[in-house]
Amino acid sequence: MNCNTAAANIAGLDSGKLPAHVAIIMDGNGRWAKRRSLDRLEGHRRGVTVIETIIRASVDIGIPHLTLFAFSTENWSRPAYEVAGIMTLLKQFLRDRQVELRDNGVRFNVIGNLGMLSEDVREVLDEARDLTRDCRRMVLTIALSYGGRDEIVRAVRRLAIDAADGRIDPGAIDEQMIAGYLDTAGLPDPDVLIRTSGEMRISNFMLWQLAYTEIFVTRTFWPDFGSDELVRILREYQERERRFGKV
Ligand code: FPP
Repeated sequence: MNCNTAAANIAGLDSGKLPAHVAIIMDGNGRWAKRRSLDRLEGHRRGVTVIETIIRASVDIGIPHLTLFAFSTENWSRPAYEVAGIMTLLKQFLRDRQVELRDNGVRFNVIGNLGMLSEDVREVLDEARDLTRDCRRMVLTIALSYGGRDEIVRAVRRLAIDAADGRIDPGAIDEQMIAGYLDTAGLPDPDVLIRTSGEMRISNFMLWQLAYTEIFVTRTFWPDFGSDELVRILREYQERERRFGKV
């Protein structure tokens, strides 16, 4: 993966004000395909090439954390052929690209209810995580079988067990401790959330972590998204004034 491809587009970005974490709800693959009378999986296939472009651009720009919402807990109820197709694309992507990720300093990370995934998918995820374990340039997190409420439920269960077993004092539970029980423990909260395809919803994505995130919605379908639009959004982010609830 050559990480210099976006260099020409970075003009105008203030390298001192880059977001530490960009999260993306990749939406619109199905509609992109339908408009062209193609199978929905064609949209997802095209979506993977955009994922590759955006990873390269993010590394090149110097974004330390990129999180992509690939598959929600609700997506399990899609037709079996589509679920299987998405899982195959994910496995292919990791098999084809994990060495390039490592060579470009990208640590692969995954969040979500991984117990719902099949054994073969989990094996590929583990392999990519192991291979890229020591990479420090960027953390790429894929949200897979992920739901924000489900993440909170799983965290509260573990917290309750630790409290019942006396490992934590319920009176000491604070925001930092709760954050440490979430799948995203150790990651900064996203500074930027991008949602493609125009929907004005966060769709159960990172409910806790998005508390003060700047949200950008573009009408572009994910298969038509690219590094130019990413840079445009980052420029707009750099012009926004973030107050975190203060005056
Ligand atoms: C949103 O479009 C896209 C998805 C739910 C799937 C995205 C997943 C991949 C492209 C494969 C995963 C691969 C990697 C490398 C992480 P949609 O189907 O919800 O579009 P629609 O709203 O127009 O129907």
